[in-house]
Amino acid sequence: NSSLLNTNLRLGSPSLKIFSKSQKTFMKLKRAEKTEDGTSITLHWEDGFQSRFHAQWLRYNSLDPKTRSQHNGQRLISLLDIPQDIFLEEEEIQPDGSLRLVFSHDGHETLFPGKWLREHVYDQSKIREKGWCDEAITLWDGQFEASSTLMPYSKISSEPQSQAAWLRMVRDYGFALTEGVPLHNGAVTELVKLFGFVRETEYGRWFEVRSEANPINLAYTNQGLQGHTDNPYRDPVPTLQLLACLENEAEGGESILIDGFKIVQILKEEDPEAFRLLSEYCARFEFTGKKGVFLKSKRPVIELKPDGELACVRFNNRSTAPLTDVPYEKVQEYLCAYRRLMEMVENPEFQVRFRLNPGALLILDNTRVLHARSSFSSAGSRWLQGCYADRDGLLSTLEALEQKIALDPSK
Ligand code: FE2
Repeated sequence: NSSLLNTNLRLGSPSLKIFSKSQKTFMKLKRAEKTEDGTSITLHWEDGFQSRFHAQWLRYNSLDPKTRSQHNGQRLISLLDIPQDIFLEEEEIQPDGSLRLVFSHDGHETLFPGKWLREHVYDQSKIREKGWCDEAITLWDGQFEASSTLMPYSKISSEPQSQAAWLRMVRDYGFALTEGVPLHNGAVTELVKLFGFVRETEYGRWFEVRSEANPINLAYTNQGLQGHTDNPYRDPVPTLQLLACLENEAEGGESILIDGFKIVQILKEEDPEAFRLLSEYCARFEFTGKKGVFLKSKRPVIELKPDGELACVRFNNRSTAPLTDVPYEKVQEYLCAYRRLMEMVENPEFQVRFRLNPGALLILDNTRVLHARSSFSSAGSRWLQGCYADRDGLLSTLEALEQKIALDPSK
């Protein structure tokens, strides 16, 4: 079927994410050996790397037009369309280093680029300790210079390279700074348009952070605030927070950031049982600050994915509700673990400090980075506007920008 093969050879289409991780080196396949029953195959690449794949996996993930829409990359078949005892009838390495396969039952024929298979290898024993982080993440402590993430707003709003670099810092460090943001009402939400959408809450499309006489939230006073993540009482939590400074004439009022992933990893090294308690038992968070609002959530302080990857740190002393999900025998120990984490949050060794001046904006990953502020004088005014947004949209924009730049680095 030559038309099928021709279609497969056009897999470089930039519109399809699955086909264009162009930043990785192309690697050709050299040899393929299927097992006697054809239910799996071992592939050998030119650089000596080898990996096994199952016939059922290969059929389900085929890239040809009968399996995936060539317009949007979405799958056209269901796993139930594939017999569970499917096996490989034929395997052949093509001259360009791709793999041609013919499957049993309906004789379906398909072609896989060696590079695509290499990028989707799953034949590895990845047993990692609980609390691991993605390779892209760079953990930091108080030695880290917040200003190293600073990029002018004029650049990130006009140059794709600068925008990508700034968004990459949010991904890798969990925060970034910019300056030169317009000083008008709601400008913080305009920055969000560069990468995604505002997440509106009952605090509004954006919220004011300035001293108030009878505040519904302690954030709206001139008191210092302990390191915290925002809104742990929402489920899901807002994954990004942006804070733009409009005025800051007050003495004090420094912004403080703490890498939550860094401190929970240190906690794990120093006291594995404390880490286990905070990640395996649920805490409760609640907020009833405004008439008609009763937000509640039940989640652990340290949330892990089922494979042990760090997913989220929720830490907010102001909105932590009574603990009711830890067995009586463990409560004392749990509170000691929580206390230990709180000491780390307050330890200057882990705190990065800086001052937001008018026109400066901070974006942070609210699932990882805790923020705090020092107290400030009531004499001068301090006025910030904040809003929430979502990280998946930011990561999607980053990947789209990276693909665009890879195709045309002059952009
Ligand atoms: Fe906050």
